[in-house]
Order: sequence, then structure tokens, then C-alpha cells
Amino acid sequence: MLARSTPNIALIKYWGNRNDALRLPAADSLSMTLSSPTVEVDAEPSDTLHIVSYETDGTEKRLKEADIRRFARHFALCREYLATVEHPDTLPSAVALSIRSQVPPAIGLASSAAVFSAVAMAYAGLIRDRVALTAEQISVMARLGSGSACRSIAGGFAAMRVTGEGIGDAFVEQIASADHWPLHDIIIAPSEREKEHGSTEGHALAPTSRLYTRRIADIPRRQAECIDAILQRDFQKLQTVAEEDCLNMHDVMRTSTPSLDYLTADTHRIVREIDTLRREQHLPVLYTMDAGPTVHLLCTDDAVDAIRSYARSQKQCLVFESRVGPGAKLI
Ligand code: DP6
Repeated sequence: MLARSTPNIALIKYWGNRNDALRLPAADSLSMTLSSPTVEVDAEPSDTLHIVSYETDGTEKRLKEADIRRFARHFALCREYLATVEHPDTLPSAVALSIRSQVPPAIGLASSAAVFSAVAMAYAGLIRDRVALTAEQISVMARLGSGSACRSIAGGFAAMRVTGEGIGDAFVEQIASADHWPLHDIIIAPSEREKEHGSTEGHALAPTSRLYTRRIADIPRRQAECIDAILQRDFQKLQTVAEEDCLNMHDVMRTSTPSLDYLTADTHRIVREIDTLRREQHLPVLYTMDAGPTVHLLCTDDAVDAIRSYARSQKQCLVFESRVGPGAKLI
């Protein structure tokens, strides 16, 4: 069963869990699902867990032991979750996964969101003759592999809503479809270094920051403002709340123990230059960064030419262009 998915870029960030083992977030979050780069996953029943993964150029990628354990744990959690929604033993006892990623390894894009949303969709496809899972249920399965993968199940603008403490109590809710607001994401990746601390580790450290409790308390207000901005296509409002939330998440990261600083001198320079450029030219563009130095510049059609030429003028940076996408699909 073949499925395709893409990363998403968070506008209200997910950082910190109420249950790390279940990847059950402490608060809601919201993102724009991207149209590219894509990841394709084929899942077939098998006697034992078997995973092959291919790079963008088609060469086989050697998976680390920790990656294999993550897929095995994810599969076990999916079986556990399906039992709680009265579909026990619908998934086979093991699967063979074949993963083809078009995400350039150096671009610093959350490829785990694309991979686990595609895996979850492929699992849903494997059992669809017996059970028609809802998008919400598939998004729970995606979340069990990587929290933010939950949101890539829906296209357009997608929230992850947290409603309780159970395994199924955080799922996707689509705020608006991809054709509602045709925004662009011009992505500038200044560094090819692999990050020292992955997100899974970071989520567990978040509560050590003295700013964390305040951040979690502020999220409902920001989430509501962000939803309003999207529904009203109010770019200024979206910019204000998304940048506030991004900078606040990076403050939490920096003040955790140990301190996590994902942003580099290049990130700060790009943010400063974009701030100047948009003031001078009145450009509808906003910046946001996930757990890495890569800068996402979200903009409307009115700003895209200026932002594209700014991005292409960056030396020693990789530039990738994307738009709002349709979300995970079976193909
Ligand atoms: C900063 O979904 O990558 O991108 O569940 O450990 O895979 P894992 O975490 P992940 O965390 C995302 C963190 C973020 C913000 C966001 O996408 O909301």
C-alpha cells in the first residue's frame, strides 16, 4: 500500500509533552502543510519488521539502530491505539516498509513529519477493506511516530488539538483547505550540520525552562488568534502571532537545562534583513524557524518575487520553494 506525504511548517509551535512516551503534547499547535518535498512510503504485510529507505538520488540509506527501534515502537503503538478504538488485530503482525524521500537531507526540514504521516496513511490503506479509519484516527497514528506528523494528515492549514490524557486524545483538525489562502514558503537552509539534540529529546527538556509554564498558558490565546488570522486571510495578524510564538519557543529552548540553541548567526542575520526588507518595501512576509537554523519565509503572491530573489542571493545557503499542500494521500 503506497502513500505520499509532505512536511508542514508550524505557525503555533508544538514544544513539550504531557506524556513523552505517547507523544501527547502539552498544548495545541497549528501549521501549514507544504506541497513539497514529498515522501513516499510503501507498507506491505511481512513476517518480521523490515525497513528500507532511499535517499533523493535513489541510493539506499543505512538506517541507525535507533531509527529502526522508532519504527518498531511506532508500529506497536499503532496496534495498541487501534485496539482502543475497537479495531484490535486489524494490522498484520509485522510490516515491510519501503521509504523514498525527496526531502534534501541538507535542507533541515522536518522530514520525520512527512515520513510518519506517510507511514500512518499506508497503515490505514493496509486495513481499509475491513476498517475505514477517519482522518482524525489516522492523524493519531501519525502522531505516535512523530508529534508534528499528526498535522500533515490534513492539507492546507491544520491544527493539532489536545483534548485529554489518552493515547487518542491529540489529533488533527483542518482549519482551512489548501485553496483557501495560496501562501508560499521560501525556505533558506544556512547549515548542513546534523543537529546535536533532536526534537524528541527537546520536548522532554522543555519543562526545565522557567518560561515553559507561561508559554503553555499563552498558547490557547495565540492558537485562537492564528485561526482567526487564517480564516480572515489577515496576513498582518498572522505575522504578529506566528513570530511571537516562534521567538517564544526559541526562548524556552534556550532557557532549558541543558540549553538548546538551534539558531545560528546566519538565522539571526536573515531575520534582521527580512525585517528591514519588508519595512522598506511593505512586503507581506513572515519568518519562522522550527528546531534548526533553517528560516521559513511565508508570503503571499504579492511578496513572492522579492522574497525569492532575496533567498537566491544568499551565499552558501540551500533554498527550497514550497506552497500550501493537500496533505497525506494513498496513491
Ligand atoms: C519545533 O514532531 O519533530 O518543529 O515527536 O519528537 O518527532 P517528535 O517531535 P517533532 O517536534 C516538532 C517541533 C517543532 C515545532 C512544530 O513542528 O510544531
